[in-house]
Amino acid sequence: MRGKSDKTLTRLVPVLLTWFDQSARSLPWRTARGVKRDAYRVWLSEIMLQQTTVPHAAPYFIDFTTRWPTVDHLAAAKDEDVMQAWAGLGYYARARNLLKCARDVAARGGFPETEAALRTLPGIGPYTAGAIAALAFGERTPAVDGNAERVFARLLAMQEDWPAAKKRIAAIVRELVPASRPGDFAEALMDLGATVCTPKRPDCHVCPLAELCLARIEGAPEQYPVKPEKAARPERFGAVYVLRRAGFVWLVRRAPSGLLGGMLALPTSAWSETSAHTAAPLEADWRRVGDVRHVFTHFSLKLDVWTADVADADLPEGVWADEAQTAGLPTVFAKAARLGGVNVPKRR
Ligand code: ADE
Repeated sequence: MRGKSDKTLTRLVPVLLTWFDQSARSLPWRTARGVKRDAYRVWLSEIMLQQTTVPHAAPYFIDFTTRWPTVDHLAAAKDEDVMQAWAGLGYYARARNLLKCARDVAARGGFPETEAALRTLPGIGPYTAGAIAALAFGERTPAVDGNAERVFARLLAMQEDWPAAKKRIAAIVRELVPASRPGDFAEALMDLGATVCTPKRPDCHVCPLAELCLARIEGAPEQYPVKPEKAARPERFGAVYVLRRAGFVWLVRRAPSGLLGGMLALPTSAWSETSAHTAAPLEADWRRVGDVRHVFTHFSLKLDVWTADVADADLPEGVWADEAQTAGLPTVFAKAARLGGVNVPKRR
């Protein structure tokens, strides 16, 4: 088996880099071929892309780098402004770590330039450290994302269980990273996985690696990677309240830790595993106007949306927010507020 793999792998690097020179995606965090990349922009894009797609992250990246063009600008930003600008990207703990990291980096006078040193910063794990070191500083270090893993699982028709396959891929890529273009190599694999070697319908006709690919030769590349069935996501239920007063809507600050921690939000009931609670923030003529669903990493949530209009209200906590402020709501609450008749501005 090694024999065939070795032959595949030695030819892979130049073929892939030539393909990248012709087919790289033009993305807002990239520079022209050969132009040095700014570590701040690489870092920011990688953090944004950790759990979301390129099309979703791109406008946020442009927005952030317009408002905060350097890490020093971001470090000096107000927490609320950054959290608001992050709204819609999800995973708000990540935004908090982003700020922490920006402040650490600004305090030390810039990003450290090695993978090992980058890993000591808040919110930077092995993948992100590798990506910044390779893309911004030209370190010969791997940055293997899910796209790259899929490409290798297919190239070598990997049959072993997925954790073992991932380990083998990491070791293979570590050996393969070319000293001259480590960042291009990483992004070439990402682009190939995202545009050609896609999860469900790989387009082998245009793949530069088609002739090397054992899964294609077998005839069913989409059957790789071989992964265990995912456990079904549990569901949780609750109620969310859209309380309106003359163009304003009532928002509360969520507890600092936990899901959507510290974010301005609509008030909700507790979320339970069985049925929707009702826990309205005050007595009013509440009407149920529908429900919203949102998928979080560990569960999916269905919230019944209740609305009421009041002339005045005496509430113990929170703020009457105007419509502009609702632009910073996390997505699940923006959806609920819209259903409840609030004109939440579209971010872009
Ligand atoms: N996904 C994560 N990092 C990326 C990058 N630099 N380019 C494209 N997709 C990515």
